[in-house]
Formats: sequence, structure tokens, C-alpha cells
Amino acid sequence: MKQVVCHKSELSNGQIMRTQLGPIPVVVVRTKAGSLYALAAKCLHQGGPLDQGRVYEHHATTKDVGEYVIDPGREVLKCPWHGYEYDIKTGCTVFDPSRAVQTFQAYEEEDQIVVQLATAGARQA
Ligand code: FES
Repeated sequence: MKQVVCHKSELSNGQIMRTQLGPIPVVVVRTKAGSLYALAAKCLHQGGPLDQGRVYEHHATTKDVGEYVIDPGREVLKCPWHGYEYDIKTGCTVFDPSRAVQTFQAYEEEDQIVVQLATAGARQA
């Protein structure tokens, strides 16, 4: 299953967009660096709309209380309802990597952004 999301000019770096892949609501993320990722848009907690969340670089605490370091290159999508954070590359929640939303292939095809179900050997974003 494959779905055209939009013209590539309609999704700038750092932005997100909602689409639908069959019955599945999907959020497409274009990172600050321009890479594309796609995740199921329904939060694992209580079904919050991840397409209304925001993307930012994840901040991780170190072993020392109150000390923060930026985890460069690890962008997360934060649910707007209660704050679950998802790694946009894997779909895993930050607090528990064993829990994840479904991810999809996202890429540019000619002048369009496309999402599709991931399959073995499928094209990488
Ligand atoms: S519904 Fe997403 S964190 Fe609660």
C-alpha cells in the first residue's frame, strides 16, 4: 500500500503533516536536516493525535541530577495530550524502547512525498 502525501515543496524541514494510509492515520515528519520519516499518528497512551504534536531534539539527563545534555540528531515527536515522546526514526517511546508506534517508509518520488507500508528490502528514506 502506497500513498502520495503532498508535493515535496509543501513540507519544509522541521515540519510535520498528517496523511492517511488506508485506514491508518499517519504523521509524516521532515527533519531539520531534510530526512523523511512516517509514524502512526495515534499515541499509545490514550490515542492522542501525534500529527498535532511537535518535533524537537531530545534532551537526556545524565547520571548527575540536574545536568542535561542534548542528544544531537535524535529528534522526537511529542504527543500534545500528555507528553509521550517518540523517536521519529524508530517509533519507540523514549521512556520504554520496547513500546513503539508503527513506522512506515517515507521518501520523495519525483516531486512528491510518498508513504508506504515498510517491507523487507523496501526503499529507505
Ligand atoms: S494520549 Fe499521548 S501522551 Fe497521553
